[in-house]
Amino acid sequence: MQWNFQEIHQYAQAEAQSIDSAQALEAFRLKYLGKKGLVADVFASLPTAQAVDKAAIGKGANDLRNFVEKLIAEKLGSLSAVKTAGEKVDVSLPGTGDAIGHTHLLTQTMQEIIAVFEQMGFVTIETPEIETEFHNFTGLNIPIDHPSRDAFDTFYLDAEDPSARGRRLLLRSHTSPGQVRIMKEHQPPMAVIVPGRVYRPDAVDASHSFMFHQVEGLLVDEKVQFSELKGLLTEFCRRFFGPKVIMRFRPHFFPFTEPSAEVDINAEILGIQRKKWLEILGCGMVNPKVFEGVGYPKNKYKGFAFGMGVERMAMLKYGINDIRLFYENDVRFLKQF
Ligand code: DAH
Repeated sequence: MQWNFQEIHQYAQAEAQSIDSAQALEAFRLKYLGKKGLVADVFASLPTAQAVDKAAIGKGANDLRNFVEKLIAEKLGSLSAVKTAGEKVDVSLPGTGDAIGHTHLLTQTMQEIIAVFEQMGFVTIETPEIETEFHNFTGLNIPIDHPSRDAFDTFYLDAEDPSARGRRLLLRSHTSPGQVRIMKEHQPPMAVIVPGRVYRPDAVDASHSFMFHQVEGLLVDEKVQFSELKGLLTEFCRRFFGPKVIMRFRPHFFPFTEPSAEVDINAEILGIQRKKWLEILGCGMVNPKVFEGVGYPKNKYKGFAFGMGVERMAMLKYGINDIRLFYENDVRFLKQF
């Protein structure tokens, strides 16, 4: 017989072993299984073969085809495994981590302020943004004809206050109404802060917005002095801005505190040149009329209160000169903090 099938099998096996690419595998397939391949040659030799050899040649051709098909299938599997393994170990490719966001700078600043007061024993309470005239003004000893009650200075809602006929609800213009709400519900001693949004119909410019944030503070007990308010706010500013901060207390007037003051921060020291002093808060000793309004017994309690602007604190601490940047949500700004 002209075909040594054992030798052909050995040769094909050795050849298959050295195949390392898809092209080489295709050449191998054509060489054995193609129209002009070896298996076809074997079948083509049948008509001229000796009668005694015909059955063995036919079987040999079929066996060879099956054997080569098996070799190709194995090779195909190992070649694609090499390919994916190669992709997995390419350590030179840059990573593809998910871009996750973070809290807004104003939220961060609010949390920093809250953290300092909580370290000093204050408790955080949130009160409503939609308020009554009583909580926003009357309970704070702000008289009925006070300019801040004017529609030009307060957003009134188109909804009647269910607790006072003929009076409309409003968007709180400061967080101080939180003081009234909390004192109506709790008895002293207390030390609370009230963080949140406030609203005023101001024209928007570099330092004004119709919505901004405040953190209110209130401490009430039987013996409380102005020097303690001063000490607390001084320590707060050192912890929040750092030990280099320079601040000043300036006499001021608020209907709900007596005496009252405003606190300014020296912006130059913090590296902000736009203005030398920037006002950050109002404060004072709680006016006895406010205690009276919430039903506390006469002359029993003393307290101090303060209300600070969160945007201004953030502007001073992080060197931001335009309040509008906080609300535009431009990621080039937000990403920096
Ligand atoms: N509510 C005042 C404002 O928005 C700030 C303020 C002043 C709050 C004195 C106080 C305070 O608690 O005692 O301008």
